[in-house]
Amino acid sequence: MDFQKYYESRKKLVNAFLEKRMEKKGISNVDDAMKYSLLAGGKRLRPILLMATAEAVGANGYDYLPMACGLEMIHTYSLIHDDLPCMDNDDYRRGRLTNHKVYGEGMAVLAGDGLLTLAFEVMLEQRNVKPSVLVEVVHETAMCAGNFGMVGGQALDLDAENRQITARELKTLHEGKTGAMFIAAVRGGAHLAGASDEQLLALTRFAELIGLAFQIQDDILDVVSTEEELGKPIGSDEKNHKSTYVTLFGLDGAKQMAEDTMKEALACLDMFGEKAEPLRQIAGMMCHRRN
Ligand code: IPE
Ligand code: IPE
Ligand code: MG
Ligand code: MG
Ligand code: MG
Repeated sequence: MDFQKYYESRKKLVNAFLEKRMEKKGISNVDDAMKYSLLAGGKRLRPILLMATAEAVGANGYDYLPMACGLEMIHTYSLIHDDLPCMDNDDYRRGRLTNHKVYGEGMAVLAGDGLLTLAFEVMLEQRNVKPSVLVEVVHETAMCAGNFGMVGGQALDLDAENRQITARELKTLHEGKTGAMFIAAVRGGAHLAGASDEQLLALTRFAELIGLAFQIQDDILDVVSTEEELGKPIGSDEKNHKSTYVTLFGLDGAKQMAEDTMKEALACLDMFGEKAEPLRQIAGMMCHRRN
């Protein structure tokens, strides 16, 4: 398959959906701040993963754009808040100034709040799915985004600044702050497409592993990449005295762990055959990406 073409076509669909949905204006200029970060590019990995997982189970990924794009809104809100002075205090994101640098801290907090809330509005606009399935998927997504998942992981991350943490603590932190939203994407796509229990189990393990590999690679890129290539500052982790896979295991150790984790992830897809080829390629991209 031509993976480049596959990925670009999905990304176009996601971008078009997000642009169209943001044409509907609220009552204030917080919309501008929301759009600034949401429509700034980004890999659109989580929505594309949701669609590719649905395809692996035999459905049409295009049918689930509202659910998929809701995830991107949650993700973008998490980035806006992550960059705030009270969090990582970073000035660049997705190749442009961070939200608070342009709109001020108050508006950036609200832009994040607005995107998080809009995400649920948009996900519940998903049609062609049994209401009971939609309720389950949105409920799981909420759990993955909140204190059991991403928000919990971000809190562990803050709490781990300026001190040495154990490998086990770091894994738990990564699984929360990054892994949980990948689990939401993969399990969401699987549920919507009507996956069996056996398929769901394998895909959940796959999501856990690619989430971990992805964050290990994020820690690596923070050390070895350039700001131009990454679209966000390098050295952010060191600046904030974070424990990362690189500080704990060294660069080579982290690279090896990312590779091993990814191999294990790919093995989870064996039962899906040819239909999971996009998922395999996405997983490879997540581990070997340069930005
Ligand atoms: C960055 O996520 C934040 C992490 C969870 C490490 P991405 O690398 O997916 O960022 P975008 O969406 O492409 O900007
Ligand atoms: C944050 O992790 C992940 C989120 C939930 C936003 P990082 O702080 O490592 O993300 P980057 O490197 O700023 O994108
Ligand atoms: Mg952070
Ligand atoms: Mg950060
Ligand atoms: Mg990082």
